[in-house]
Amino acid sequence: DERTFVMVKPDGVQRGLIGEIISRFEDRGLKLVGAKALTLDEELASEHYSEHQGKDFFDDLIDFITSGPVFAMVWEGKDATRQVRRMVGATDPGEAAPGTIRGDYGLDLGRNVIHASDHEDEGANARETSVFFDDDELLNYEQATDKWRYE
Ligand code: GTP
Ligand code: MG
Repeated sequence: DERTFVMVKPDGVQRGLIGEIISRFEDRGLKLVGAKALTLDEELASEHYSEHQGKDFFDDLIDFITSGPVFAMVWEGKDATRQVRRMVGATDPGEAAPGTIRGDYGLDLGRNVIHASDHEDEGANARETSVFFDDDELLNYEQATDKWRYE
């Protein structure tokens, strides 16, 4: 099944939202295949956000994302990348629909709680996952509930 990279940002960790966010993806029926808590250094942060290098908000973004621990995860499931992005909501929490993670937990563009790989960027998942995880840190396993989630 498809795998997608997700990361609770420093604001989400500080606000104690890791559990809430994990629960949402679990409740949806996605399967957790990797997770780790870490603090990004500038090099790792710049690699993760390389697509935004040169933009006027880049330095603020790097300062913010390195400002405290993050919680990185890989979730697996049918159409996982697109479904996770739908659950995460619009980039600006002020515009994100209620019911989405950003729409329920945020107000400000620069404090939008969570990162998820872009489903419109073909290589994003593989690229971002490899910044955070070695192959042997990702799990392959069955859940007894799989047959109750998929036809
Ligand atoms: P990510 O999941 O974090 O990648 O968000 P996204 O894919 O919804 O948005 P995008 O990749 O375009 O931007 C990356 C992050 O940069 C966003 O999550 C915002 O926190 C931040 N960002 C984007 N645009 C702006 C901006 O105009 N000003 C500021 N301050 N931050 C921005
Ligand atoms: Mg993005």
